[in-house]
Amino acid sequence: MNNNISNTKRHILQLGLCVLFFIVKIESKCSNGCDLAFASYYVTQGSNLTYISNIFGQPIPMILKYNPQIPRSDTIESGTRINVPFSCLCLNGDFLGHTFIYHTQVGDTYSKVAKEVFANLTDEYWVQVVNRFDPAQIPDFADVNVTVNCTCGDKHVSKDYGLFATYPLQPGEDLWSLSTDSGVPMMLLERFNPGSNFSAGSGPVFVPAKG
Ligand SMILES: *[C@@H]1O[C@H](CO)[C@@H](O)[C@H](O)[C@H]1NC(C)=O
Ligand SMILES: *[C@@H]1O[C@H](CO)[C@@H](O)[C@H](O)[C@H]1NC(C)=O
Ligand SMILES: *[C@@H]1O[C@H](CO)[C@@H](O)[C@H](O)[C@H]1NC(C)=O
Ligand SMILES: *[C@@H]1O[C@H](CO)[C@@H](O)[C@H](O)[C@H]1NC(C)=O
Ligand SMILES: *[C@@H]1O[C@H](CO)[C@@H](O)[C@H](O)[C@H]1NC(C)=O
Repeated sequence: MNNNISNTKRHILQLGLCVLFFIVKIESKCSNGCDLAFASYYVTQGSNLTYISNIFGQPIPMILKYNPQIPRSDTIESGTRINVPFSCLCLNGDFLGHTFIYHTQVGDTYSKVAKEVFANLTDEYWVQVVNRFDPAQIPDFADVNVTVNCTCGDKHVSKDYGLFATYPLQPGEDLWSLSTDSGVPMMLLERFNPGSNFSAGSGPVFVPAKG
C-alpha cells in the first residue's frame, strides 16, 4: 500500500517534470542566432568613429568594411546612418539580441544611454531590466548592460532575407520611406515587424540589409 502510494507519487512527479520540460521547450522562443546583424546608428553632432567603435566594441576597420560610403578617416557626417556589425544571439532562450557593455559617464541615466548614446536602438525599459543598479543611482564610470534586439529573419515570412538592421526611425521616416530606401515591399516590412506602427519613438524595426 505504502509502496503503491509512493509509486503514484513518483508517477505524478515524473508527469509533472515532463509537463514542465514541455512548457520550457515551448517557451524557449529562439534556439540559435546568426553571426551578423547591423545596428543602424544615427550619427549625431559630436560622435565619431572612435566613439562608435568604443560603444559597440567593434574595431574601426570592421565598421568600415560594412560602410564603404565612409571616407577612411575619423570624420563622419552627422545626420547620416552607419551600419554597425554585431552578432545576433539567442539570449536566455527567449529572444534575439546582443548585450553591449557600456561604461557610464557622469550624469548618465538609462534613458540617456538608450536615447543618446545608443541612438534609440533600445529603450529605457529594456536597459533597466538587464541592470541591477537602481535607475536613480547609476554609478559613474561603471559597466552597464545595454541590450539591443535583432533578428536573423523569419522563414515563414520570406526565405530571401537573412541579414537585418535594427533600425530606429527618425522623425519623418515611416513605412513608405523605409520601403523606398531599402527596396523592400511595404507588405514584407510589415510582416517582419508585426505590431509595429513604423513611427519615430515607437521602438526600432527590423529592415533587411544588403551584405
Ligand atoms: C570623438 O567623440 C568623443 C565623444 O563625443 C570625443 O570625446 C572625442 O574627443 C572625439 N574624438 C575626435 C578625434 O574628434
Ligand atoms: C531618440 O528619440 C528621442 C525621442 O524619443 C529623440 O529626442 C532623440 O533625438 C533620439 N535620438 C537620436 C540619436 O536620434
Ligand atoms: C526587445 O524584444 C523584447 C522581446 O520581444 C521586447 O519585449 C522588447 O520591448 C524589445 N525592446 C525594444 C527596445 O524594442
Ligand atoms: C550585466 O549582465 C550580467 C549577465 O546577466 C550580470 O551578471 C551583471 O550583473 C549585469 N550588470 C549589471 C550592472 O547589472
Ligand atoms: C505608434 O505607437 C506608439 C506606441 O508604441 C504611439 O506612442 C504612437 O502614438 C503611435 N503612432 C502612430 C502614428 O500611430
